[in-house]
Amino acid sequence: MPSGILGGNLDGKSILLIISGGIAAYKSLDLIRRLKERGAAVRCVLTAGGAQFVTPLSVAALSEEAVFQDLFSLKDESEMGHIRLSREADLLVIAPASADLMAKMASGQADDLASTILLATDKPVLFAPAMNTRMWEHPATQRNVRTLLDDGLASIGPGQGDLACGEVGSGRMSEPLEIVAAIETLLGETPVAGDLPLMGRRAIVTSGPTYEAIDPVRYLANRSSGKQGHAIAAALAQLGAEVVLVAGPNNLPDPGGVQVRAIESAAQMLAACEAALPADIAVCAAAVADWRVAGEAGQKMKKDGSGRPPALALVENPDILKTLSQLNGGRPGLVVGFAAETEKVVGHAQGKRTRKGCDWIVANDVGAGTNVMGGDDNTVHLITAQGVEDWPTMSKDAVAAALARRIADHFEHFGSA
Ligand code: C5P
Repeated sequence: MPSGILGGNLDGKSILLIISGGIAAYKSLDLIRRLKERGAAVRCVLTAGGAQFVTPLSVAALSEEAVFQDLFSLKDESEMGHIRLSREADLLVIAPASADLMAKMASGQADDLASTILLATDKPVLFAPAMNTRMWEHPATQRNVRTLLDDGLASIGPGQGDLACGEVGSGRMSEPLEIVAAIETLLGETPVAGDLPLMGRRAIVTSGPTYEAIDPVRYLANRSSGKQGHAIAAALAQLGAEVVLVAGPNNLPDPGGVQVRAIESAAQMLAACEAALPADIAVCAAAVADWRVAGEAGQKMKKDGSGRPPALALVENPDILKTLSQLNGGRPGLVVGFAAETEKVVGHAQGKRTRKGCDWIVANDVGAGTNVMGGDDNTVHLITAQGVEDWPTMSKDAVAAALARRIADHFEHFGSA
């Protein structure tokens, strides 16, 4: 998140920064500075490996706090037990996160101060991996990363480029400012009990796939699960919005506190959205079929014995996002679209934002190996008129909570657009 645009301020926030072993640890010194500049209190834990790369003295001088290193040090425990270290933090950040520390976390080991804190904490955790590209690509590391994400941790990076080991590839720790942006996103989403900034606002959310009938028993569809859209509807309702969720066929429970309109086709989805107007917010997260079958057969189509399959003529479906974005009169104040892309994710999504006329686009990479469709995690970029924010990899629930919080911030700063 470009710091300072909306809520890019860490005043009063406490961050526990765990620095594990890796050449990228030098960047963590800058990270401490950047966090402190933004008003955060930063306490640091150095693993034995981390202390090979940066000295406790530099970490202490920059953080202006004692540095914690030893699980069994009487001094550390008497002054600040490992439980208190995590209890007093709003967020735990591991930067760099070594392959070794990630493996320990994924298997629940607790044999030093850092891993013990990480096993004992109930606070959100963000990790920024950094390692040699082969170590990063090793199936064991990839398995561990998946486990950590499934356990609810958030991650950022690693990026691509020249690595300290002389190789080129994935494994560079994200830059300090990128990590700061991820921290702001994660802390911005923390709900405060009784805080209902969207009270009095109406929202329409589309979710799931659409089914386009071929005949009474067959249809064209796609693999969207609806998880992200449903999570957004729930997150907006949690912030007080009155939410209409227009949902294509799915296997999810209806989110609490949300009015659900179950539809099948794109035409029905558009009609349900129009019927739900007026609204302050529209979030189009559905994977709407681009085409429907021209002239749906009234009866089940039969093989005609010729051995030739029937030709299906397709016609374009209405674009719901575009229709809502370009409404003349009654346009929702904030219209948010999604862009699932397999390449040039940000560039394509920026084009889509302009073409469709929506205010924000949430872009995600659904290329091979990302497991976004139907999966529980998502790595997104939020594209607004101000620029591009790269969000950390988070659960779809956490992406929804962060988006709902950003929507609330938008209305707080700009009122009804
Ligand atoms: O054009 P494309 O399908 O890539 O755009 C994706 C965005 O547009 C999503 O927000 C999706 O919900 C929305 N969309 C729509 N109606 C369509 C096609 C896409 O609302 N017919």
